[in-house]
Amino acid sequence: MEFNKISVVGLGYIGLPTAAVIASRRKKVIGIDVNEHAVNTINKGEIHIVEPELDIIVHAAVEQGYLKATTTPEPADAFLVAVPTPFKTNPEHTSHEPDLSYIAAASKSIAPVLKKGDLVILESTSPVGATESMAGWLAEARPDLTFPQTHGEESDIRIAHCPERVLPGHVIRELVENDRVIGGMTAKCSQAATDLYKIFVKGECITTTARTAEMAKLTENSFRDVNIAFANELSIICDKIDISVWELIRLANRHPRVNILQPGPGVGGHCIAVDPWFIVSETPDEARLIRTAREVNDGKPQWVIDKVNEAVGKYLSANPEKTAKDVTIACFGLAFKPDIDDLRESPALRIAESIVLNNPGKSLIVEPNIGKLPDEKLGSATLVECSVAIDAADIIVLLVDHKQFKEIPSAEVISKYLVDSRGVWDSV
Ligand SMILES: NC(=O)c1ccc[n+]([C@@H]2O[C@H](COP(=O)([O-])OP(=O)(O)OC[C@H]3O[C@@H](n4cnc5c(N)ncnc54)[C@H](O)[C@@H]3O)[C@@H](O)[C@H]2O)c1
Repeated sequence: MEFNKISVVGLGYIGLPTAAVIASRRKKVIGIDVNEHAVNTINKGEIHIVEPELDIIVHAAVEQGYLKATTTPEPADAFLVAVPTPFKTNPEHTSHEPDLSYIAAASKSIAPVLKKGDLVILESTSPVGATESMAGWLAEARPDLTFPQTHGEESDIRIAHCPERVLPGHVIRELVENDRVIGGMTAKCSQAATDLYKIFVKGECITTTARTAEMAKLTENSFRDVNIAFANELSIICDKIDISVWELIRLANRHPRVNILQPGPGVGGHCIAVDPWFIVSETPDEARLIRTAREVNDGKPQWVIDKVNEAVGKYLSANPEKTAKDVTIACFGLAFKPDIDDLRESPALRIAESIVLNNPGKSLIVEPNIGKLPDEKLGSATLVECSVAIDAADIIVLLVDHKQFKEIPSAEVISKYLVDSRGVWDSV
């Protein structure tokens, strides 16, 4: 299938790099987003998110006329939908049900410009069945066109799911190099989607059904989550019995068939902390290990907060002339993983917010990837440079292993009360 114009719906961490990389292959790309600020920024050849190399590619693509952003969908030969798939909201913030309303809204917005022969690909991480739901919403809006769920291979519109599995911070390389799982609603749908990805993907394009492709992405992230939960559980056990978990894991990993991951402050981001719940919400009785892993990882931030309180207690016992108001706590890192600015679902952010809220003394934050503190919950804290925080802090809480922190010799922080959730300075 030939594609002269490709539309990417949702210009965030996934959609914008995808749009830019396709445009860099000299294809006309129309980026659609409901966020006017994002659209205006992109049309100036600039970017509204942090991702290495992305600014250069977007700038070139816009300048050469291959990439244009808009809030109003236009006709195209293919539509790649990369909108958010969060949990549904409920007043208690306890829901783990997937919220497909963004996909529904995106479907509604592109439906009027669809024409016979178009391809629609859902890239958003989705619960099993979401691609079929998207096809249903499109069919409802366009009764004059035929869709694969009713007309199979003869349908006017081709529909597929192709989950994204790029690593933030390495998106531009991984978009091109990673293998892609392509789940068409029919074989022709898979073929059309493969033709599209071949424009920029050097990895292998492997075809399957839409439902299997959806489950593949959820499975990949659940695998990561379960393995991280194992490391996090080990860290809690080791702390209790006074063993260095960092040394323990180094030793155990000498076994030729053992490869334990590193513990941390919890699991964050838009994927690993969210996607396993899409399996649990569909099959609650069967997904026992997946649910427990989620609970172990979700419990880790509170454990770190308890460790910080313990450190404050020790500091005050050793300095009886001081009160809690005199204690300065510095949190190193807010992002959900190293060397990015993405704070979504970040356990580090959650821990820092709790520390700032409960610390009657001074709270300092070091986060080299952001220019200002993100929300009012951190209002009473100050964003500072590493050296300022190290000088001023009584308690140092390492939450993210950013490269800037790894460059600091442990000798510089050794005199402080340290809670090192990533083993950067405390890995003996
Ligand atoms: N960020 C990642 O590392 C990553 C990796 C793999 C998969 N995913 C999945 O990709 C999807 C998108 O994630 P993201 O990180 O790019 O999200 P994001 O929030 O960065 O971007 C989504 C964009 O969609 C826009 N949007 C929302 N509703 C819209 C609509 N109706 N029409 C047009 N635009 C709309 C938003 O304004 C936003 O700019 C999610 O399902 C996510 O789970 C993300």
